[in-house]
Amino acid sequence: QKPVRIAPSILSADFSKLGEEVRAVDAAGADMIHIDVMDGHFVPNITIGPDVVKALRPHTKKPFDVHLMIDPVDPYIEAFAAAGADIITAHAEAGKHIHRTLQAIRAQGVKAGISLNPATPETVIDYLYEDLDLILVMSVNPGFGGQSFIESQLKKIENIRKRIDALGLDIDLEVDGGVNAATVRRVVDAGADLLVAGSATFKGGPDMYAPNIAALKNL
Ligand code: DX5
Ligand code: ZN
Repeated sequence: QKPVRIAPSILSADFSKLGEEVRAVDAAGADMIHIDVMDGHFVPNITIGPDVVKALRPHTKKPFDVHLMIDPVDPYIEAFAAAGADIITAHAEAGKHIHRTLQAIRAQGVKAGISLNPATPETVIDYLYEDLDLILVMSVNPGFGGQSFIESQLKKIENIRKRIDALGLDIDLEVDGGVNAATVRRVVDAGADLLVAGSATFKGGPDMYAPNIAALKNL
């Protein structure tokens, strides 16, 4: 298991000054920037499109971890890759051909991730490990920041960690939703090495971003 890295979700940032917020979390020790893309169809909220990702790209050199909560996915992969995504994650539940989607992401020269909703069993990735650079376990139902961690997902994280290690593959195991000082230890013990933190990063305003990120890294 690699050292824990933190990906602040800019869903909890001040949307009226996103460039500034991205620079602030970069300076505060973010390892990557988690960008939540929602379409009002796959999830009950609407957020960011490729033009916003493109506008943010000059503000940091840190990788853009783009979490697509949209259906369909395939028509938008090229636009998010061109906008500067380093990782594109699609949901197992979106579209009918997730294997094809993962191949389409890698064909853009971008790392490919799959995300699983809380109700989705980890067995959906049994035949996809070789096609993955990242697995994102949702520990809340996607759509909003600031929700409570769903404890049952710890078992899923453990099971996926065992498979990654048994296969000896270099796949990031990311957890998204309700990660904070109270839950981070169990999430990392279960096997996660990349943590999304929205409200836990942005709470308290810009002066708190660095201590907030440090607190998560120190578990
Ligand atoms: C939820 C998003 C998350 C969200 C996490 O649909 O995918 O990335 O911003 O927010 P927190 O860390 O506040 O639970
Ligand atoms: Zn997310």
